[in-house]
Amino acid sequence: MTYKNSILLLFILLTSSLTNLSAQEQEIPKAERLAWFKDAKLGIFIHWGIYAVNGIDESWSFFNGYISHDDYMKQLNGFNAKNYDPNYWASLIKESGAKYTVITTKHHDGVALWDTKQSDLNTVDKAKAKRDLISPFAQAVKNEGLKLGLYYSLLDWSHPDYPNFTRNKKRYSDDADRWEKFRKFNFGQLKELTRYNPDLYWFDGDWEQSAEKWKAKEIRSLLLSKTPHTIINSRLQGYGDYATPEQGVPISKPDNEYWELCMTMNNSWGYQPNDTTYKSTNQIIRILVDCISMGGNLLLDIGPKPDGTIPKEQVEILQGLGRWTNKHKAAIYGTRAGIPHGHFNGYTALSKDKKILYLYVDNKPNGPLLIKGLKNKVNRIWVVGNGTKLPYKVVGKQYWSAVPGLLYIDLPESVQDKDVTVIAVLLDGEVDLYSEAGQKIESN
Ligand code: GLC
Repeated sequence: MTYKNSILLLFILLTSSLTNLSAQEQEIPKAERLAWFKDAKLGIFIHWGIYAVNGIDESWSFFNGYISHDDYMKQLNGFNAKNYDPNYWASLIKESGAKYTVITTKHHDGVALWDTKQSDLNTVDKAKAKRDLISPFAQAVKNEGLKLGLYYSLLDWSHPDYPNFTRNKKRYSDDADRWEKFRKFNFGQLKELTRYNPDLYWFDGDWEQSAEKWKAKEIRSLLLSKTPHTIINSRLQGYGDYATPEQGVPISKPDNEYWELCMTMNNSWGYQPNDTTYKSTNQIIRILVDCISMGGNLLLDIGPKPDGTIPKEQVEILQGLGRWTNKHKAAIYGTRAGIPHGHFNGYTALSKDKKILYLYVDNKPNGPLLIKGLKNKVNRIWVVGNGTKLPYKVVGKQYWSAVPGLLYIDLPESVQDKDVTVIAVLLDGEVDLYSEAGQKIESN
C-alpha cells in the first residue's frame, strides 16, 4: 500500500468509527454535565406570560374552560413589559443565593417570549410589549454568573397543527401530515433556543404524546449537539437527566441522585394577585434545608406582573432567603445528602469529603442537641456563619460495646439564627456510623 493510500484508509476508518458512535456515546458524561447542578441547591423559576394580565392560571384556564381561548388571547394587549428590568431580576435572583434560574420561554398557551420565526404568536409580533423578552434576560443572567435555564412546553394548545386544543376539543386525532408539521415547528423553535446557549432545558407538557411522537431522542441529540454542556430535566419522556418532583417535598430521598423540587411561593405559578397563600420565608428556608438534606435542589417560583415588576411579597421572600443563604454558604453549596434520620432529630447534610456533618436546627432546642451512633471522634464543633465554638460531651460509651456514646452539643440561645441555625461538626475522617439495633453484653 502506498503512503497516500494508507492515509486514505486511516481517514476512512476514523470517520466511519466516528459516525458509528451513537449520540449517547458522544455526550459529555452525565456526572460532568450535572456537576454544577448537584452543587447548586437553589434555583429560581420564573413563570412570566400573558396570563399575568388577568391574573389567571397559566394556559390551563382556557384549556379547562374557565375562559374562552379568544378572551385568553386578549391578554396579549395588556402584556406590556414596560417596567421590565432584566438586570434587576438577575441581581435579585443572585441576592437570594440561587445559582441558576429557569424562565418560561413558552408555556402551554403557545405564546413565545422571544422573536421566534416559526410563528407570529410571540411577544414581538403579537403582544403589547413588542419585543423579545428572553435575549436581555439571558444576557443579564450570564453577566451575574448564574446558570441559565429555559422552560419550554412541548405541547402547544394554540398551534393550528397541534391535536389538542382544550380538554373537550381536539383539532384532530390522527393526521400524520399535520403532526409532522407541528413536530417540525417544535424542532424549529428548539433550534432557535439553542442560540441562548442555555445550561439547562426545562421541558414540560410531555405527557400528551409518546417519546416516539415527540421524537424525544432526536430532541435530546439536537440540544446536546448544539449545546454539549447542557442538562435536561426529566419531562422529556425518558430522555432527560434529572428528576423533577413538583410542589410536594419528597418524604424519602428520590432514586435519581440528581433531582430538583419545583415549588410555588403561594399556590400559583404565574402572577395572581388574589392568591395570598404565601409560604413564609421561614417555611421556605426549611423546605430548602429539607431538599439539601436529601441531596436535591429547590427550584422556587416567582410570577412577575405583566409590566415586568416582581410582586413585593416575592421580593421579600427572595431577600429573606438571601440573608440566610449568604450566612450559611458553607453548609449549602456543594453539600451532599445527610445521615439517616435515627442519628439526629432533624435535617443534616455532609460536606463533599464527608468530614463535616452539618446539623440544621429549625426549632428552639429544649436542652443540648443529640447525635447518636457516631463512631468518629469529633475534632471541633462550631456555629456556621458565626464561628462560635460549641462545647460538647460524649456520654454513655461502654468499653465492651460497639455502640458509640451519645454526643451532646450545647447550643446557647445567643447564637441561634431566627430561621434555621446550622452547626458544623468536624470529624476525624469520613463520617462513620453505627446504625445497628444495639448490643448486649456477651461475656466478661
Ligand atoms: C405543571 C403545569 C404547569 C407548570 C409546571 C411547573 O406541569 O402544567 O402549568 O408550569 O407544572 O412545574
